[in-house]
Amino acid sequence: MTITELLDKKTLRFLLFGGKGGVGKTSNAAATAIWTAEHGRETLVISTDPAHSLGDSFALNLSGGEVKAIRGVKNLYGLEIDPRKAFAAYKEMTQQQQKQQQAPEFAGMESMLGLGDVGDITAPGADEALAFSKVLEFIQECKYDLVIFDTAPTGHTLRLLGLPEMLDSFFGKLIKLRLRFGNVFGRLKSVLGRGDAEPDHSLEELEKLKKTIASARTELSDPNRTSFVIVMIPEAMVVAETERLLQALYEYEIPSSHIIINQIYPERPDCTFCRARREMQQKYLEQIRDIYDDFTLTEVPLFPTEVRGLPSLRRLGTLLATGTLPKSGERT
Ligand SMILES: Nc1ncnc2c1ncn2[C@@H]1O[C@H](COP(=O)(O)OP(=O)(O)O)[C@@H](O)[C@H]1O
Ligand SMILES: [Mg+2]
Repeated sequence: MTITELLDKKTLRFLLFGGKGGVGKTSNAAATAIWTAEHGRETLVISTDPAHSLGDSFALNLSGGEVKAIRGVKNLYGLEIDPRKAFAAYKEMTQQQQKQQQAPEFAGMESMLGLGDVGDITAPGADEALAFSKVLEFIQECKYDLVIFDTAPTGHTLRLLGLPEMLDSFFGKLIKLRLRFGNVFGRLKSVLGRGDAEPDHSLEELEKLKKTIASARTELSDPNRTSFVIVMIPEAMVVAETERLLQALYEYEIPSSHIIINQIYPERPDCTFCRARREMQQKYLEQIRDIYDDFTLTEVPLFPTEVRGLPSLRRLGTLLATGTLPKSGERT
């Protein structure tokens, strides 16, 4: 069994790859993207891992936070999200609010109104998290046939998945604050001689962002349109982390039905070391097959060399999509 049935689904728009660090998320996301692009679907592959390695996997420079065509693959585009850029855009947008909240005459007003936690967004990690609002825009607009996400290691991805909910309530509070007290703030400001003549569009901006979040949530929880593929290797610590990831996917209602088990040691009777590793892995493989019997499992061998650059990614893509590994140098 492979992820073919998933890729065959014509309604599929969003494919997310996630799991522990180093298991092969980027390689499998990039390989799948090449396959779908070369089989007629215009594909965008996005890295949301702040420690980007997507460009490295394609042996291309994808930095800069802009969508770039992947040289050598028709129909394929790549993007490494730049959290700093997204954060700057956010700051500009909410500048009006921040000015008001920070003015000394309004100090303490938010907490008086029970809105004290609106400042949460500047908490550590928020810059990375805000990059996700950029991702949400892509989800809402979706100009591509398929958007593939190469996500960060589990902990960070979980924060990201919970973000629509967090942003939703955060922006909801800001909007309420503006609606209820906007005029009062305005009058106070003019009394205190701080009025500025510039029209304030931040309320519309916030409303727009809230809509974007709501529609992204709907998209991401629709099993016809979205699937989260878990990548793992057959080792104890990874099995435990996969459980946590699955729990969170369930909580956030993100559909997941496929697991890629990567880097499986091949049979090498002549190599004592390989035999020992293989035996260890096979034990966990049995457990995984047992625990996840309602998932489709795709098994990928450990290759003798790293998976990097178009030829090796293309071979991995073919294996993922068809279950057959083409010979080295063979085009499919
Ligand atoms: N099946 C495999 N066989 C051999 N090397 C692999 C395989 N899958 C991934 N790799 C290599 O392992 C390293 C980590 O893979 P990567 O896809 O970057 O993981 P992640 O994105 O989960 O951190 C890379 O050097 C990659 O080339
Ligand atoms: Mg990676």
